[in-house]
Amino acid sequence: MKLSVIPQPDFIKIGSDEPCFELTRLCEIEAEKGTDKAEAELMRFLSAHFEGELLGTGKERLRLLLGEPCAEKEGYRLTVERDCITITGNDEAGVFYGVQTLKQLLIQGSFKLPELLISDSPAFHCRGFMLDCGRYFFTKESVMHFIDLMALHKLNEFHWHLSDDQGFRCQLENQLLLTEIGSYRSHTLFNSIPHQGYYTKAEMKEIVDYAHERCIRVIPEIDTPGHVVSMIAAYPFLSCFDRSLTVATHWGIKNDVLCIGKESTFEFMESVFDELTEIFTDGVIHLGGDEVPTLRWKICPHCQRRMKQEGMKDEGELHTYYLQRIASYLQKKGFEVRMWNDRKKEKMVDSSVAWQLWNGEMDKKEVADEMNNGRGFIISAAEAYYLDLPYGQVSLKKTYEYSPFYEGITKEGRKNILGIEGCLWTEFVPDIKKAEFCVFPRLGAISEAAWTKEEKRNYAMFCEKLNGYYNVLSYHGVEPAPLKAANPKPLRKAASLLYWERRKFCWAGLYNLTDNYLVKRKYAKEEEQ
Ligand code: ACM
Ligand code: ZN
Repeated sequence: MKLSVIPQPDFIKIGSDEPCFELTRLCEIEAEKGTDKAEAELMRFLSAHFEGELLGTGKERLRLLLGEPCAEKEGYRLTVERDCITITGNDEAGVFYGVQTLKQLLIQGSFKLPELLISDSPAFHCRGFMLDCGRYFFTKESVMHFIDLMALHKLNEFHWHLSDDQGFRCQLENQLLLTEIGSYRSHTLFNSIPHQGYYTKAEMKEIVDYAHERCIRVIPEIDTPGHVVSMIAAYPFLSCFDRSLTVATHWGIKNDVLCIGKESTFEFMESVFDELTEIFTDGVIHLGGDEVPTLRWKICPHCQRRMKQEGMKDEGELHTYYLQRIASYLQKKGFEVRMWNDRKKEKMVDSSVAWQLWNGEMDKKEVADEMNNGRGFIISAAEAYYLDLPYGQVSLKKTYEYSPFYEGITKEGRKNILGIEGCLWTEFVPDIKKAEFCVFPRLGAISEAAWTKEEKRNYAMFCEKLNGYYNVLSYHGVEPAPLKAANPKPLRKAASLLYWERRKFCWAGLYNLTDNYLVKRKYAKEEEQ
């Protein structure tokens, strides 16, 4: 089989088809001090493959070294010569990525390799994957499975979406009801089966350690001030009008959000983040901040009082006020802060907060301006990098061909593209099987956008590698979407879109409308009296 690597390396030269190295149980591993993570990864891979420890009694050697094979952080060089494989990394992560490349080659080559030379380094230093565990709970083992697959793709940021309207998954000792009440919903969109689950503090720490072992940072997200119905269900005082709600069962943007008028909301959230920053030690916190309807704020006396006190012109400024206050709180603790980009507003959160670009509400020119003016961006444009969207809407080809380098971004501005992240939202992804179908093979394309230099990315070449890539995935027990589903022809495309839109034929949309009408009628009337 033709050997290939995803994401595509900077430079790859394969001597001839004739194998010069066969990796057997006899191979001896030499790992220099400081290459522990790479060594552990290699040992896990080889001992699983050989169903036991290596004997190290043969003449073949596999060396893991630290050096300066290239100028870039996280870079490495891999050589295969007669009886000797050498991986030299610029740093520990570099050696680790060399091992990931080697794993792909070994799987494709049935553990026999020809002479070859690869030298490689990443285009971006933030290469992410987001898993939404708020809508559906994924077990600790499933999360770890995804972390392993991230490592295989040389991704280094696990963005963990831990809360949403449909579930709060992160156990916090100071607010135990968040998980005791907020992690349970009575049913889900398409069935009447209850759904629940959360991660204990110990489990989250275990996952963080697991990720660190694989050169991956963990960025937790507690999404506020919108997407908080599960939190309000546990602590009604967090909402305007102290509403008594149950955890959301359906998808869709909810009108009940945090009350920004009450100081108690801030005391509560600061305490949440105090605990969160003890568990997640990688120095980055995601605030969420997306999709916040202002209907409740418009009629809440606390919110209106705050607006008057602070001289705010509209509720959009209240949204910014909340995010800025929490962001500053976290920055003072030494954390970097990220949030989803939303609409362009007159008053925006300070440019020290990085935006994760996701939607089309800000046009590309506004994004370019913001980037040129110094704000950092993680690119997760829904039209290419939202992995829950059906292949009929976001095909593999579309994901691959998307370019984050929008018109109008200056050379300096480009430096503010911190990286690329693929996002798996799970409103309609109840289990690992569906998750794998959605994520693969698109994550392969995203990994090339994140790792491979723009001038080396080539869709035709990527397609030639898919056979080998599917073998690598299958070796790891992954069931990707078949290619005919991932790049659907017109009929399949139409079917995919129709199947997706069945989500609209439910009562949730209507419920949002009637509920809002009733809230308005009740509280606006009280106001009049
Ligand atoms: C988002 O998709 N609401 C970030
Ligand atoms: Zn309020």
